[in-house]
Amino acid sequence: MHDSLLLFGATGDLAQRYLFPSLVHLLRDRLLPAQFRVIAIARSEHDDESFRAWLRERLCEDYDPAALDELLRRVQYVSVDLADADSMAVALSKFADRPSVSYLSTPPNLFASACRGLKAAGLLEAPSRLVLEKPIGHDLASAQEIDATLKAALDESRIFRIDHYLGKAPVQNLLALRLGNTLLEATWERRWIESVDIIVAETAGVDGREGYYADYGALRDMVQNHMLQLLALIAMEPPAAMDTNSIREEKRKVLRALRPMTAATADVDSVRGRYVTGVVDGQAAKGFDHRGHEDVETFVGLRAWIDNWRWAGVPFRLVTGKRMPSRTTEVVITFKPVTHWLFGADERRRARANQLRVRLQPEETIELGLMGSLAASEWSANELQPMSLDLAMLPPKRRIAYERLMIDALKGDQTLFVRDDEVEAAWRWIDSVSAAWREAGTPVHDYPAGSWGPAEAQPFLPRTLTTTAGRKP
Ligand code: BG6
Repeated sequence: MHDSLLLFGATGDLAQRYLFPSLVHLLRDRLLPAQFRVIAIARSEHDDESFRAWLRERLCEDYDPAALDELLRRVQYVSVDLADADSMAVALSKFADRPSVSYLSTPPNLFASACRGLKAAGLLEAPSRLVLEKPIGHDLASAQEIDATLKAALDESRIFRIDHYLGKAPVQNLLALRLGNTLLEATWERRWIESVDIIVAETAGVDGREGYYADYGALRDMVQNHMLQLLALIAMEPPAAMDTNSIREEKRKVLRALRPMTAATADVDSVRGRYVTGVVDGQAAKGFDHRGHEDVETFVGLRAWIDNWRWAGVPFRLVTGKRMPSRTTEVVITFKPVTHWLFGADERRRARANQLRVRLQPEETIELGLMGSLAASEWSANELQPMSLDLAMLPPKRRIAYERLMIDALKGDQTLFVRDDEVEAAWRWIDSVSAAWREAGTPVHDYPAGSWGPAEAQPFLPRTLTTTAGRKP
């Protein structure tokens, strides 16, 4: 396990909210090597002491004080400008004394120059590794350009592209549920499944990230990575083995099979929205300030089609939005109706398709909707009613997704990281969507903060959202 972590973007939001807290937890649980050190790197002027004080102020609440002290003891700070590869080399070469993991938690336009600086500092020599935060580029062309620079410095086996959704335990459970259960694996295909819904709704807004968001929007911020990774895990063929490349290869095949969107299908298969002033959780919420970037969505609904044998004709609806009524991340698999209906007309009206609903956030639940007659009076065994098998789990205390991913990067396990060809396949499809929007002039509809998106989004929302997760507007 490598024991030297260089954290670029150390004063950024992600580092404060997740990366340093993850390290505190890992130190508390004695999961890091004895000689573990963190080199925190950012542009701001700090020395070790002032950075430690700055970090302590940000982390003081909620953390085990002994573990926090230990993290601060192990942190050193270096101020560098990532756009200047030469000065990076001078400032950082002393840390090439042992194999390291360099973690770029920075905007993607800095990846190429940072990589050149790291190379010049000797920090990318084997067996050192490089971790990159999403987004990798802005489209296929820029992603390929970044990749070419990375490959000039180190090979794919040492490049770790993070998608933090892959580090979430309930996301891994999607694979366990599907591949560990005959009932599910046997019916996991177009003959039995009517549709698949993947929803990532957030109550949070763009808040403070307007600049980044103006360039990316919900399509590039959420769909290109997290949602397509969920789709790939749900739709992939069972891998021959649960090893890194077998899984990544199957995910890549699914992403390559996504049917490109065209201007002709954009109207039917997509909807875009942008929140305006409204109320979320009883609090007034301001609208997204879109002056200067009118063509940016904070909500997107997509109907994706996977053109392969298993999924032909099954719509995968992907919906994500900011400032929704409740935080809800879930996958809903809706099965086809039974082949032949033997019961009465009233029962038929009450009939509900079998549905597997896997809630990933904020709580983890699994619900299976079935039909049965137990609720009926004793003489009317044929009176079918919808019933729900409900598995609400009291999980062990969950780790931040980044804890798992940092350990894996330090150990060199790439299973939960995204391979170069997966990123390219995802961008290829996303580029087809944005080109289709451009050509078709797909509008961005307003929706009040605290609602389930614009009225035009209704056909993209599963009915389950309107029940336990909150109300439709
Ligand atoms: C990030 C996006 O990758 O994921 C954010 O940039 C989003 O816009 C976040 O809020 C959602 O992650 P989670 O783990 O809170 O569902």
